[in-house]
Amino acid sequence: MSKSPALTSWHPASWHSRPATQQPKYPDSQALERAVASLSRLPPLVVSWEVEALRAKLGQAQRGEQFLLQGGDCAESFEDCESDNIAKRLKVLLQMSLVLLQGLKKPIIRVGRFAGQYAKPRSADTETRGGVTLPSYRGDNVNRPGFTAAEREPDPELLLRGYERASLTLNFVRALIDGGFADLHHPEYWDLSFLRHAALRDAYQKIVDSIAESLDFFESMSGQRVHAATRGDFYTSHEGLHLLSEQAQTRYIERQKHWYNLSTHMPWIGMRTANIDGAHIEYFRGIANPIGVKVGAVMSAEWLQELVQVLNPQNEPGRLTLVHRFGVKDIEQRLPAMIRAVRATGSQVLWVCDPMHGNTETTAGGVKTRRFDNILGEVEAAFRIHEEEGSMLGGVHIELTGEDVTECIGGARGLAEADLARAYRSPVDPRLNAEQALELAMLIARRAGANRRTGFPQARGLATPRG
Ligand code: PEP
Ligand code: CO
Repeated sequence: MSKSPALTSWHPASWHSRPATQQPKYPDSQALERAVASLSRLPPLVVSWEVEALRAKLGQAQRGEQFLLQGGDCAESFEDCESDNIAKRLKVLLQMSLVLLQGLKKPIIRVGRFAGQYAKPRSADTETRGGVTLPSYRGDNVNRPGFTAAEREPDPELLLRGYERASLTLNFVRALIDGGFADLHHPEYWDLSFLRHAALRDAYQKIVDSIAESLDFFESMSGQRVHAATRGDFYTSHEGLHLLSEQAQTRYIERQKHWYNLSTHMPWIGMRTANIDGAHIEYFRGIANPIGVKVGAVMSAEWLQELVQVLNPQNEPGRLTLVHRFGVKDIEQRLPAMIRAVRATGSQVLWVCDPMHGNTETTAGGVKTRRFDNILGEVEAAFRIHEEEGSMLGGVHIELTGEDVTECIGGARGLAEADLARAYRSPVDPRLNAEQALELAMLIARRAGANRRTGFPQARGLATPRG
């Protein structure tokens, strides 16, 4: 076991003494310093009590009382920071959560991959096209996707533009939710105009009607309105990759006696930056937020055990979410050993399945895509394997958009390889479109409902719905 990280004292800049991978190389270090200094003076985007509320809910999810739905773009783009796009993304997450609530019979914790998902890890530092080599695109917080030297040069001012857009996004999301966008009493707001597939639309309508009926029943029996309990909470998350900007938004909260990253509720550690002795682990171990860690096929059981111990030495409920992303081909082989390894540490974690990142493939034409069947297959395998191991899948982590894109193959409308060219917009990974995302939620919910009816052990630990 490596002892190094836990033995040294932590402060928001202590990661500087460790190797930091995936950080951009800025040509003008003074400009970078100025941007980071400005960022550290700006107000936080979220507050510690919200972060603590999420941590408590994730603790409940670890006990099987709630379920995490985390989703959004692979990389948000500055251009997509506009009302229609944000409202559609929020809507698809809310609709998925409604479907999951009805199927799983437990409250759904909604965490967007948004309001700050602007920095991306890349497999290679540079990209070569037609004999020209330029820095890779690393997300809108760092540089721009166009393939010219000017666009690919890391620009520190973008960190401030990213902060502003995260804040604009969050402001709009909060206003929509406060205004009743997520109130279960107004399911008519949750319109289905994007659902072109009639069978899906009917299935979704039945779910909405049944929830409306249950609400009416509860309220007439109890004489109480349940709006306080049913109004949707919503949280944000992003990959905590760009350490200077994460550090700049890290604040000591006297009342809580802890340091928090207040740029988001739930930052996560990507698969490429989870080295036990690396800068990212050093940074993350000192913040009090609930955190996620991606667990991929390259990670050994011992490595995962060390991570669990360094990141959650006190075994605090809700602190650690492990997001496995093996791919449908490898999950069978890899997941059981990981579940056993974590159990051996005695630590409580929340297990979540990311069925996207292990299922990426490239078509013969060179287009990055994912197949709906593989995505669904991995989620189904994850539920089953956890159950067989006496563990529990407590959430899903999905790349999706509210737009009608054609980036993933399959789903009820049967998108084929030839359709990919029609509306492929992601600058990084292929996302489920709104219809595919809702279909995935329905299939998960249906499977859970069927298991409950047949007494399949997966029903163990399902809590009574709370309205
Ligand atoms: C991502 O979530 O977009 C990502 C890059 O994931 P991973 O770190 O699991 O590869
Ligand atoms: Co991605």
